[in-house]
Amino acid sequence: MKDMSDEGMKFHCVLVSGGCGFIGSNFVRWVVEHQPDTRVVVLDALTYAGRLDNIRDVLGDRVSFVHGDIRDAELLDNVVPGCDAIVHFAAESHNDNSIADPGPFVSTNVTGTYRLLEAARKYDVRFHQISTDEVYGDLALDDPARFVEGRAYNPSSPYSSSKAAADLLVRAWHRTYGVRATISNCSNNYGPYQHVEKFIPRQVTNILMGVRPKLYGDGLNVRDWIHAQDHSSAVWAVLTRGRLGQTYLIGADGERDNLTVLRAILRVMGRPEDGFDWVRDRPGHDRRYAIDPSKLRTELGWAPVHTDFESGLKATVAWYESHRGWWMPVKAATEAKYKAQGQ
Ligand code: NAD
Ligand code: DAU
Repeated sequence: MKDMSDEGMKFHCVLVSGGCGFIGSNFVRWVVEHQPDTRVVVLDALTYAGRLDNIRDVLGDRVSFVHGDIRDAELLDNVVPGCDAIVHFAAESHNDNSIADPGPFVSTNVTGTYRLLEAARKYDVRFHQISTDEVYGDLALDDPARFVEGRAYNPSSPYSSSKAAADLLVRAWHRTYGVRATISNCSNNYGPYQHVEKFIPRQVTNILMGVRPKLYGDGLNVRDWIHAQDHSSAVWAVLTRGRLGQTYLIGADGERDNLTVLRAILRVMGRPEDGFDWVRDRPGHDRRYAIDPSKLRTELGWAPVHTDFESGLKATVAWYESHRGWWMPVKAATEAKYKAQGQ
C-alpha cells in the first residue's frame, strides 16, 4: 500500500474529508496537479458550505466522491479501508456561526473527528488533522511574539474550542493507540471557492453588488493571510515528510489588520478607500493571530509560492468577478443572517 522514498511517504489513495469546501477543494485540485500517483476519495456531507461543483472539473479516474457524514461510523467502515491516508478538513468553520449556534460545531468538529480517528485506528490508516491557529487564542497588537508549536492552547470561540478539542483527541489517539497522526495549524486562508460568509469574499461580493463592505469593531484586528494553494502544499509536506505525533504551524508571514486588507480590496476594485461601513464587533473577537512557521520551513523545507498578497488578492477578486453564478445564489441568505446579527 505505502512505501518510503527520498521525497517521503507515498500514498496511493488519500481520503479527503470536507473536500467540497473551500480549502479541501483547493487541496484536491493541488493533489491532482502535483501528485500524479495519488488517487483521492472525497467524503463530504455537502452542508451549506460544501458543493460538488467545487471539484466537478477534477472528478474522474483519480478523484471520486462519496456523499456522507464523518459522524457515520458504518459509512466510514466502507470508505476508510480503501485508502492509506486520511486528510481531515471536514468541519463547521465559521466563527460567527459558532457564536450564533455552537451545537453543530461540537458535533461535527469533536464527535466527527472522534469517529474518523476510530476508523483510522481500526484500519491502521495514516491520519492528518487540519487545524487552525485559533486554538492558541490571540496575541496583543504590541506583542512581539508569534504562535509556536509548543504554546498552550487557549481558544476563545465555540469554533476554536471545538477545533482545540479535536486536536487533543488526535494527540491522545496517537499516544494511547499509536495512530500514525500529525496535526497542522494554519492561519487565515484566501483564494477561490471561499464561502461569501468569510471576510474577503463577503467584501468583494458586496462591492460587486453595489453594497458597502462591513468592518467589525475598530478594524485593527490582525489576521495572518496565506493563499489556499500554499496551505495545500504545506499539508502535503507534513503528510508525507512530517514526524508522527508532531504539530506543524502553517503560515506565510502575512500579518495585516482588517482595515488594511479592506482598503486593499477597495483599491483593487477601483473604489474609494473609505467606501465602507463600521458595524457591530464580533463578541469575544480575537485581536491578533501570527504564525512562526520556522519548524515547517527548516524541518520540511516548505516555502510559500504566493508571497505577493496584493497580486493574490487581485486574482481572487477576478475569480469572484467571473464566478457570479457560483456565489450569487447564496449571497442573499448570508447577508440576511448578518443583518439579523447587526453586522
Ligand atoms: P468550509 O466551511 O469551506 O468547508 C467545510 C467542508 O466540510 C464543507 O465541504 C462541508 O460540506 C464539509 N462538512 C461539514 N460538516 C461535515 C460532516 N459532518 N461530514 C462531512 N463533511 C462535512 O471550511 P474551510 O474554510 O475550507 O476549512 C476547512 C478546514 O480547514 C477546517 O477544518 C477548518 O477548521 C480549517 N482551517 C480553515 C482556515 C480558513 O482560513 N478557512 C484556516 C485554518 C484552518
Ligand atoms: O485563523 C484561521 C481561521 O481563519 C480559521 O480557522 C477559520 O475557519 C476561518 O474562518 C478564519 O477565521 P476568522 O474569524 O479570522 O475569519 P473571518 O473571515 O470570519 O474574519 C476575518 C476577520 O475579519 C476577523 O477579524 C473578523 C473580520 N470581519 C469579518 C467579516 C465576515 C469583518 O471585519 N467584517 C466581516 O464582514
